[in-house]
Amino acid sequence: MSDVQQPSRMPVHSTSCFVRSYAKINLTLDVLGKRADGYHELATIMQMVDLYDTLCLTILDEDCVRIVSTRSELNSDDNLAVRAAQAIRHRFSFTQGLSIELHKRIPMAAGLGGGSSNAAAVLLALHQWWQLPLSPEDMLTLAASLGSDVPFFLTEGLALCEGRGERLTPLPTYWPASMRWLLLLKPTIGVSTATVFRNLPVSDYTDGVHTQAVCTVLLAKGEPFREDMYNGLERGVLERYPEVAQTREDILRAGASFVRLSGSGPTLFAPFPELASATQAQQRLHEQGYEVYLTRAIHPTSGNICIF
Ligand code: C5P
Repeated sequence: MSDVQQPSRMPVHSTSCFVRSYAKINLTLDVLGKRADGYHELATIMQMVDLYDTLCLTILDEDCVRIVSTRSELNSDDNLAVRAAQAIRHRFSFTQGLSIELHKRIPMAAGLGGGSSNAAAVLLALHQWWQLPLSPEDMLTLAASLGSDVPFFLTEGLALCEGRGERLTPLPTYWPASMRWLLLLKPTIGVSTATVFRNLPVSDYTDGVHTQAVCTVLLAKGEPFREDMYNGLERGVLERYPEVAQTREDILRAGASFVRLSGSGPTLFAPFPELASATQAQQRLHEQGYEVYLTRAIHPTSGNICIF
């Protein structure tokens, strides 16, 4: 045991910190098999998109973490953002508390990684704001203890994720011109990731060939083949949730030439090379009553965190 007394409060002169928390899409998702720990072995390429939640963190004098969100169902100690703050407080034995205000914009239970992104945003913000002595490896370990997708949100926006999803190989900043604009369509249902994985038949497992092919193309700054932009969870989700299958049909009818499920869904994304065609499809889908977002790939910068 170290005899160095850890400070229980951080000597910070600012009282609050804003941080943006971006959503992600899965460009590919190969499920390789089921592991002994119950999780599935994955090979997936994830990219952040410029749909984001905003968190405001404020120091509290009380020894606790509080959350107030624009979505009341998220005001709970189970919220991954709260668990991330608690993990930091525990690690440094801080008695200093934290209030988290969460302006939610990313659809929930949607396959867009919103909860995981919020947790990573808290880790990144506290690390920078409180100048915590945590190495990149420490941050990754903390993130992986919170959820499989959390480590990805510590990256610069594009990465190959393996293992449970927590083993990262960051990819250089690049995005194909054919996918310059991305329409995200969220069917009204929510889908549980655990349920989608539980119902996945072995016949939907692959050997990672799609992810490998897209990685090679991205590294060469090329255009991926559409058949390689594969999601092993999509077939099962379309079969089990007719509403998602209907949404897929409607996007294609609205002018998209390609559409894919993001993660375990139910959100679908459709790439467009030009703004005009993306906007036209967005308008049409909006008129049909869909929750639809026009986004693009994004690589967050240090301006993402704003300390007051
Ligand atoms: O890690 P996370 O809590 O985000 O995962 C949610 C659920 O999704 C897990 O409890 C598990 O059932 C399933 N899952 C899986 N294999 C993965 C990631 C998630 O089976 N690689």
